[in-house]
Amino acid sequence: MPLIALCAGDGIGPEVAAEAVKVLKAVDAKHRIGFEFMEAPVGGGAYDLFGTPLPAESLAKAKKADAVFLGAVGGPKWEKLDYSVRPERGLLGLRSELDLYANIRPAKMFTPLIDASTLKREVVEGIDMVVIRELTGDIYFGKPRGVEKYEGGKRGVNTMVYTTPEIDRIARVAFEIARKRRKKVCSVDKANVLECTELWREVVTEVHKEYQDVELSHMYVDNAAMQMIRNPRQFDVVLTGNIFGDILSDEASMLTGSIGMLPSASLNGKKGMYEPIHGSAPDIAGKGIANPIASILSMAMMLDYTFDQKQAAREIEDAVARVLDKGFRTADIYSPGTAKVGTTEMGNLIIKEMQ
Ligand code: IPM
Ligand code: MG
Repeated sequence: MPLIALCAGDGIGPEVAAEAVKVLKAVDAKHRIGFEFMEAPVGGGAYDLFGTPLPAESLAKAKKADAVFLGAVGGPKWEKLDYSVRPERGLLGLRSELDLYANIRPAKMFTPLIDASTLKREVVEGIDMVVIRELTGDIYFGKPRGVEKYEGGKRGVNTMVYTTPEIDRIARVAFEIARKRRKKVCSVDKANVLECTELWREVVTEVHKEYQDVELSHMYVDNAAMQMIRNPRQFDVVLTGNIFGDILSDEASMLTGSIGMLPSASLNGKKGMYEPIHGSAPDIAGKGIANPIASILSMAMMLDYTFDQKQAAREIEDAVARVLDKGFRTADIYSPGTAKVGTTEMGNLIIKEMQ
């Protein structure tokens, strides 16, 4: 039985997760895949109940499952907590414990939403890129780290670390994905200043020798941030490390209109965790107005990458496109002349469109 661990999380997490599960169940009713779900609390809610954002039982479930779905974690309620038990540690713990090193964040323009972008139509029209972000290394996990007493004050330290095998394996993921797309990889680093990313460039260049059918370019991260706004269509696959990928993927998402639209997969082989790239949005939690599309599209990625159900995945994506075409919008992507709907209604419309 294909087994899915459900980590709904905090804020709007449970609301968008409910819609995503509903859609997946509708897919299952048609394709008879036989999904089984088990709830695995993580994040702030888990801390309140169990004193840790990643309870051992939740981690065990995530390890056992074929795929994990995560809504979102965090919120102001937990911001004052010690770093080691913050909701975000739950998410980071899952990523590192499951060794989900390959984070895939597509940013594709949905044509009906073109006017929701803050950039001009002629700049954003036809954007179709994917950020491949290394997810288990870099300054996120490097040691030494922490804040210590120092000369009468304090000193904060984080360390950027990458090893050859870590860079090698993520580079391969990017080249493989590029082969199925427009065959262009832009590797982003800061090799002019940071030795660690000089190594990154060296290893990516080495791996590229095995992928001569793919075009490789290198860009410094500051230039990449600028190029993404200036001419985003030049990008096909963007390959980068954990911290640069965190920043650039938010930037890429905004090009397409709303961060509420974009899904992600964090993979190690077939095993994967799937999450919307947006956060827990505490300001709108509980209001029933959050956009569930990023979560629903994350389920499509799950069908695609973990379960090899390509047709079912396309059916979800097509249904989302048609609902948008018909003019239905959640508040974050609303524009005058379209029909504003809530979270649940958006889920229902997508299911109806699939049938
Ligand atoms: C993301 C988020 C996380 C990250 C946070 C919530 C820890 O911003 O998935 O991009 O920094 O990786
Ligand atoms: Mg981020």
